[in-house]
Amino acid sequence: MKQVLLVFGTRPEAIKMCPLVNKLKQTNGFDVKVCVTGQHKEMLQQVLDVFNVIPDYDLEIMQPNQTLFTITTSILDKIKTVFDDYEPDVVLVHGDTTTTFATSLAAFYSGIKVGHVEAGLRTYNLQSPFPEEFNRQAVSIVSDFNFTPTEVSKNYLLSEGKKEETIFVTGNTAIDALKTTVDSAYHHDLFDWVGDSKLIMITAHRRENLGQPMKNMFKAIKRVLTENPDVKAIYPIHKNPLVRDTAKEIFGDDDQLKLIEPLEVIDFHNFLNKSYLILTDSGGIQEEAPSLGKPVLVMRDTTERPEGVMAGTLKLVGTEEENIYENFTLLLSDDKEYAKMSQASNPYGDGTASEQIVKILVENL
Ligand code: UD1
Ligand code: UDP
Repeated sequence: MKQVLLVFGTRPEAIKMCPLVNKLKQTNGFDVKVCVTGQHKEMLQQVLDVFNVIPDYDLEIMQPNQTLFTITTSILDKIKTVFDDYEPDVVLVHGDTTTTFATSLAAFYSGIKVGHVEAGLRTYNLQSPFPEEFNRQAVSIVSDFNFTPTEVSKNYLLSEGKKEETIFVTGNTAIDALKTTVDSAYHHDLFDWVGDSKLIMITAHRRENLGQPMKNMFKAIKRVLTENPDVKAIYPIHKNPLVRDTAKEIFGDDDQLKLIEPLEVIDFHNFLNKSYLILTDSGGIQEEAPSLGKPVLVMRDTTERPEGVMAGTLKLVGTEEENIYENFTLLLSDDKEYAKMSQASNPYGDGTASEQIVKILVENL
């Protein structure tokens, strides 16, 4: 019996790891345990509830306004006990958060194999996204199995000297989740408020965008809404108090924009599916939108998801007010431009990534 420990801590990691947890649990020959670091609390619990995943270990590290120092040191401090108790043959981590980095470092110190899901994403700019680009590159140094979403990410790893036999192109497990959530018959009370207006979905949370860049984004959005009364926006706002303060300061009470609590993933995916377009600095949403054929204005200077840009669904618009304003206005006023960006495509696989990862682990562990 091989012992597999999956470790994750934030909302996006949970959304993309829970489909894999459930597939692994159905597989003969594996004993599977889940450790959550609790880097997120409410936003993590929402996802665990949806996928019926009950963690075996919870490090409960979250603190209000936590820092990269507290997240990293709390995980390093607490996770060794879990490794000592369970003695996993492999630790599976996801993506690029500080949970991912600290867990991989701890596994390396303990001589335990690391499997990296969503490996090989790169901007090669350590400041953007910060600190995620560092986290990804650091995990790649110690990873034994690299599950990449696309050939693009495989090639980055090859160029960095990772051995080909450790790299497996599987697609992204984000699409596995999306396949189970989107339903054309879905309805929500807020859709009555939207009525026949165009629905814009907004999210923002990146560390490097806190402060002035986020103010710029929100001011641009507010200007466009004022000039386009036929548009309504919904912004399920991240729990980070710094994000909340800025959003409340710039948007205040607005008839055209609703600031709401984070949505459960089933709701959020169906809101995306109902939307006209999306403005975000999120990573995961850049993977989901191309499948749904929804244009995304990415409010960042870089992206590690060039596949969506190549497919035409994503456009990088930076964090300056004027550029966001102009691109948002263009998509609302120019049907041709909108049509160009709203073609559904599937750069991140067919929703079988978890199944493929399980098969690879069965053959290689
Ligand atoms: C983290 C990840 C980022 C990922 C994002 C997904 C790091 C450094 N950052 O950023 O890569 O894109 O998650 O959302 O790993 N909070 C709550 N309840 C929650 C979640 C957060 O109250 O359920 C508040 C807390 O005050 C917390 C703050 O949000 O201190 C920031 O959370 P943190 O995980 O440090 O940063 P994120 O911006 O969420
Ligand atoms: N999401 C969600 N509820 C929300 C907003 C986002 O379930 O209210 C989902 C979204 O579909 C995507 C993931 O959360 O799968 C993205 O998380 P986030 O933007 O916090 O992190 P990132 O992907 O940037 O790391």
